[in-house]
Amino acid sequence: MKVYLFLLIALYFFIFQNSFCQKKIILKNLTCEYKNNPLGLDANNPRFAWMIESINQKDIIQNSYQIKVSTIQNDLKTSNKLFWDSGKITTGQSIQIPFNGKKLSSKQRYFWQVKVWTNKGESEWSEINFWETGLLSPSDWVASWIETNLKEDISKTQPTQYFRKEFKSNDNIISARAYITSHGLYEAFINGKRVGDALFTPGWTSYNKRLQYQVYDVTSLLKNGTNAIGVILGEGWYRGTLAWDNNRNIYGSQLALLMQVEIKYASGKVETIVTDESWKSSMGPILSSEIYNGEVYDARLEKKGWSDANFGDNDWKIVKNVSISKDNLIGMDGPLVRRIDEIKPLKLIFTPKGDTVLDLGQNMTGWVKLKVKGNKGTKITIRHAEVLDKNGNFYTENLRKANAQLEYILKGDGIEEIYEPHFTFMGFRYIAIKNWPGKIDLNNITGIVIHSDMEKTGSFECSNPLLNKLQHNIQWGQKGNFLDVPTDCPQRDERLGWTGDAEVFAPTASYNYNVAPFFTKWMKDVAADQLENGAIPAIIPDVLHGVMAGACGWADVATIIPYVIYSHFGDKQILEKQYPSMKAWVEFMRKTAGQKFIINSGNHFGDWLSYNSTDPGGESAYTDKDLLATAFFAYSTDILSKSAKIIGKEDEARDYEALHNNIKKAFQKEFITADARLSPNTQTAYALALEFDLVNEDQKIKAAERLANDIKHRGNHLSTGFLGTPHIAQALSHNGQLQVAYDLLLQESYPSWLFPVKMGATTIWERWDGIKSDSTFQDKGMNSFNHYAYGAIGDWMYTNIAGITLDPKNPGYKHFFVRPQPDKRILSAKGTLISPYGKIISDWKIVNGMFIISVTIPPNSSAEIKLPHSNLSQVREKNVIIKKGDGINEIQQLNENVLIKLGSGNYEFTYPFSFKE
Ligand code: BGC
Repeated sequence: MKVYLFLLIALYFFIFQNSFCQKKIILKNLTCEYKNNPLGLDANNPRFAWMIESINQKDIIQNSYQIKVSTIQNDLKTSNKLFWDSGKITTGQSIQIPFNGKKLSSKQRYFWQVKVWTNKGESEWSEINFWETGLLSPSDWVASWIETNLKEDISKTQPTQYFRKEFKSNDNIISARAYITSHGLYEAFINGKRVGDALFTPGWTSYNKRLQYQVYDVTSLLKNGTNAIGVILGEGWYRGTLAWDNNRNIYGSQLALLMQVEIKYASGKVETIVTDESWKSSMGPILSSEIYNGEVYDARLEKKGWSDANFGDNDWKIVKNVSISKDNLIGMDGPLVRRIDEIKPLKLIFTPKGDTVLDLGQNMTGWVKLKVKGNKGTKITIRHAEVLDKNGNFYTENLRKANAQLEYILKGDGIEEIYEPHFTFMGFRYIAIKNWPGKIDLNNITGIVIHSDMEKTGSFECSNPLLNKLQHNIQWGQKGNFLDVPTDCPQRDERLGWTGDAEVFAPTASYNYNVAPFFTKWMKDVAADQLENGAIPAIIPDVLHGVMAGACGWADVATIIPYVIYSHFGDKQILEKQYPSMKAWVEFMRKTAGQKFIINSGNHFGDWLSYNSTDPGGESAYTDKDLLATAFFAYSTDILSKSAKIIGKEDEARDYEALHNNIKKAFQKEFITADARLSPNTQTAYALALEFDLVNEDQKIKAAERLANDIKHRGNHLSTGFLGTPHIAQALSHNGQLQVAYDLLLQESYPSWLFPVKMGATTIWERWDGIKSDSTFQDKGMNSFNHYAYGAIGDWMYTNIAGITLDPKNPGYKHFFVRPQPDKRILSAKGTLISPYGKIISDWKIVNGMFIISVTIPPNSSAEIKLPHSNLSQVREKNVIIKKGDGINEIQQLNENVLIKLGSGNYEFTYPFSFKE
């Protein structure tokens, strides 16, 4: 009996405790400048963010927070000697909160902790997180830049350079940091082990103005006694072949290294090992390694132990100190490039022309890792291709002059050799192998997928497998082209930061991944390379001396991306930082347009790659460039005016609003007839005019009808290029033509989004007909099979099919809409998004005449859901007719839809549903 009583009491406490626990407010995902415990931040006021969690509680809203910062971890517990105490701040803001204490010191670790108070109780103090500052001032660099003394012929590609240095540590090491940057790309080693796992460091920026350095925790790589540092330098974007032909030495002709390792000993002593003339350099097995051209690696020339202590380096040459300014050195904003995925080849093919080919099943960016055993001196060659031609032969003509080839020469000492290239990457699905010793075993070859290591945030799926494949292709397009900068393509002799491509894809990119840090970094280069007159070059970093600067829709990256990042991530700072650049761009256009407010000059790409009929009587779709340039002038001005308001520049906001009104009036006078006809009468003209709010309210429906008619007239096909494509479906669904938007999206014949999918695409193509229906190719001069621009439709699928939609008044999903707009041809869809506040889910299906939707709204956020074709009296939430309370804050029937305002939590709504005829 006693035992039973005891068990009962224990059970009671267990249940009580548990339910108590479940009501707790928990703080998770603490970040500082979007990163978890970052090293090397050079922000003076880094921004904090956290997510709130509470199982089983709904409608959680933060009322206030308190942040504590200290330099000694224990001080946080005692609250003694705090470096900063925000005090209890009454606000719902839980993201983008700037540190606001004393001036930060270089190379210092700061610990921080947060506590919040919500309407449903308070949290404990969070776990302790930290950030570490980098070298905040150029004078913190005590190392010298060094260059090799080896002879080089800089007119052509040169072997990779190896650097080394030995030193003694005679005390117990407590911690050590390596600060590294280079001219060219570097890979660093300490005592034979790789420092970090980043690739393509120091990244690509407008080097002469902004050169990033990286910071690594190298404590575990060092030892008591003799240590060695080794660094390899490759040509990279700095001086390798770039931007067509033999364009080399763009930023300089010499590779150089700057590195300092700071070691803290138990005794309190601090020692700094720096690059100086005590370092030595030599050549090694990498005979060449270039972004476009692949790598030649002769394993026979390997220098075993070259980055270990006690290596015989007598024949290595002393390096020279060079005087190079350190004023351009900056910490990292963006993510590092890393190895992200591995892909196993699917099959071995022997082509009609006699090539031995492996199919990896996925067009990817990176390289293959080889495991091979064979005779000394055997030269294996690997070529890369995105596609096979119609006869099944290996096709590389679309790579143009990019050699994209690996040559590996075996050392052949009887053991398995493992090889991966270093300072090159390829865009490919197929590889052709020559001279592989013995039989090819697919297990010995692995595709290594690399890209900027962004947090994956979004997913989309629905009942249509072709759309799911399209989403897959969009995501792979993003993976393949977010490689430190947003590139147009990863395979041919281009791979450049084309501004237009990035601008059109940015909203979709912001659903798939957290791209805020990635674009924050790149937008600083946009500003850095902006011309004095305010025009933005079409490629950033600007390696072609201001090429096509001011091209409409390309240069507008200056305003569009900062605003996209603000909208998706609630990041006001990017608007503040980019504002001068945004303004200079708009002022450039104002000057170009003059008093007529119409831009009718300048060089523009126009609606790049829009539909071009091959039938002599067929209708192509050419949109006049004056219309395009003026439409983007209006759009950028509108964004600038809104941005000015957001960052508190009210006067400027009003000025730009007035300018916007003038442009709008001029646009209407010049390009829109009284009966809502656009001149030029193209899909792109309608899409931009409608989406950029250049059509008067009373003309919108009519204009959208005209757009829809053009689409129908073309048999439900689009005719848009780079500029119209991102907006066409939105222009339709925003203006009463939802079904036509679906007709376009679900179209399977050329030109359409699904045509490439039907043709077996695994990424987004540059052209609607990269491979034509007869399996022949488009012009080899411009036919990439991995160009993300047309993937801009992803944004429409998240917002209209899944229904996850931003509320422009509450950026970063502080409040958002769930507005699925189903179509008869799609019976279910699910979108998920890790927003700055936590995970959002919209997951609906139509089953037996019932519409069932599950939604998740993260704590400290709220949403308004619009239930399509619903009747208030029939809507149930988890089987009970809906009523206010428990997270449901307002219910309203508005025309044929029920609108419900929801607090955080999970909900499931069900109601009888039929499509409107
Ligand atoms: C690139 C683009 C780019 C375009 C400019 C092409 O070569 O691949 O995607 O935007 O040039 O029109």
